[in-house]
Amino acid sequence: MQKLKISGGKKLVGEVKISGAKNAALPILAASLLSEKNISLNNVPQLNDIATMITLLQSMGVEVVFDDTMRLNLNARNVDRLIAPYDLVKTMRASILVLGPLVSRFGSAEVSLPGGCAIGARPVNLHIDGLRAMGAQIEVQDGYIKASATKLQGVHFNFKEISVTGTENIMMAAVLAEGETIITNAAREPEIVDLANFLRNMGANIEGDGTHKIIINGVNKLNGADYRVMPDRVETGTYLVATAITGGKILLKNTSENLLESVLSKLREAGAEIEAGEDWISLDMQRGNLKAVSFSTSPYPGFPTDMQAQFCALNSVANGEAEMVENIFENRFQHVVELHRMGADIQIKGNIASSKGVDSLTAAPVMATDLRASAGLIIAALAAEGDTIIDRIYHIDRGYERVEEKLQQLGASVSRENS
Ligand code: EPZ
Repeated sequence: MQKLKISGGKKLVGEVKISGAKNAALPILAASLLSEKNISLNNVPQLNDIATMITLLQSMGVEVVFDDTMRLNLNARNVDRLIAPYDLVKTMRASILVLGPLVSRFGSAEVSLPGGCAIGARPVNLHIDGLRAMGAQIEVQDGYIKASATKLQGVHFNFKEISVTGTENIMMAAVLAEGETIITNAAREPEIVDLANFLRNMGANIEGDGTHKIIINGVNKLNGADYRVMPDRVETGTYLVATAITGGKILLKNTSENLLESVLSKLREAGAEIEAGEDWISLDMQRGNLKAVSFSTSPYPGFPTDMQAQFCALNSVANGEAEMVENIFENRFQHVVELHRMGADIQIKGNIASSKGVDSLTAAPVMATDLRASAGLIIAALAAEGDTIIDRIYHIDRGYERVEEKLQQLGASVSRENS
């Protein structure tokens, strides 16, 4: 198992290019199943989760080729296996995103139930309810979702709880369904809009993405597409927080302030000086005086749950007290007990973590438990005195492309070790 060794106390200074968004690329890759024509994608991040999705698509018969300019070319003309097996789905829950496309184009799918993960039970009942509402026959048997449909029918489906991948699955089901589908209480994340842009590029008839009401009129066939995936807003926020906690200065390129306004406003409240342009964001924290900031996670455009662990680390050494409320997932504070080992003063009561800033954290061996928790531990280690060893770093490789290389570019002392 690989570990990261970080010698803390160095200011992050420099420039980093932000990669393509994992949580946009995953549904867009799944959507390649909807057409028999060539799909060409740019700015797909090189991440373990992306590799898993590609392996899954190839197991179904999708041809996938990375060309020398790192463009990803796919063709689903010869899909002959409509199954997403447990051994792949258990490593990457977002595999559930092939369910909608398979039922929509082929009228049949057998997808392993994703099961829970470190941060929560992660049920997919809303995905199933939506497809049933569109006329799919679905049974859940032996740990698999078995779905069949002659032709999905457009429907008005209201999500009783906002679900990002749930919205994405129903969107992908609706683009080839008969008639009009209206999705209400839809997720509004930028990744939803990116998927909609990609589907429109393929010839889908979609409007209202980015609002709570999405209207889709089914078409008979979809074409190919040539598309560039949006920037990763969580990677962007992670490097901004890492720079803030170390009192550094950073310029992030290939990203956009519009993707994470709630995060930028919290960083300004914490004392960071932030400027932004068409495709860049800069943060300067060299004048110091980091102030603790309270927040409460909520669906977009609220404060993102995927940035909660990073701000837990920031608040642990910021001046003052803060209250951090996690409203999306039931078990997303596992990084806090690891931060305690580094000297953080954070008390958890239910879904609220209350922090009191300490002067400094001290290095300790810690363990990553999930993707964004590991980002929080890296941020804490960058600020801590001494050498922190973070174990189970495979979690970080799921969502952060070339993480030690980008940190080294910023002056961090970080290395990957095999244990
Ligand atoms: C997406 O997960 C993201 N993953 C997550 O990012 C992100 O944390 C989450 O949205 C919230 O923004 C991808 O996009 C691949 P949800 P998703 O369905 O779609 C409940 C990361 O770090 N719910 O919006 O699985 C659910 O339990 C990952 O990159 C149901 O009850 O999240 C949760 O409490 C972590 N039934 C809430 O809704 C359902 O059928 C929101 O979940 C579906 C969801």
